[in-house]
Amino acid sequence: MQIVKYVFQQHGDERGQLVALEEHKDIPFEIKRVYYMYDTGKGVTRGQHAHKSLEQILICIHGSCKLMLDNGKEKKIVSLEKPYEGLYISNNIWREMYDFSSDAVLMVLASDVYKEEDYIRNYDEFLKFVNMK
Ligand code: TYD
Repeated sequence: MQIVKYVFQQHGDERGQLVALEEHKDIPFEIKRVYYMYDTGKGVTRGQHAHKSLEQILICIHGSCKLMLDNGKEKKIVSLEKPYEGLYISNNIWREMYDFSSDAVLMVLASDVYKEEDYIRNYDEFLKFVNMK
């Protein structure tokens, strides 16, 4: 499984840094939704699902967290700790987010609006779904 991390252009000067993200330019899809997680408790694991068709870019814009990505055959662990780095997650990938620092803000750019029917929330169902492909 290939891990795709984008390093966004930083527009830095003596005032500080700025990152700008445009769909189909910095982000490889149309951005239809943005959501973010913060105040994540110590020891908490979030995610624990896959999507049938959604694509996402995850950016830890403050603090840090870890992600476990699983394509049904292979698992990889990725750290997110830079506000200018984005982790691309395609459809059909089981993901778990954990080890959030107390100040972590994890922002997600998504290719579609929230649709519960796009989620696979059961791991055995996920394995069946990816193995049918
Ligand atoms: P949940 O899917 O449990 O978050 P995660 O998988 O990241 O741990 O979502 C938490 C709640 O937020 C749940 O009630 C659904 C709601 N939600 C929305 O209403 N819109 C969204 O875009 C997302 C991601 C979640």
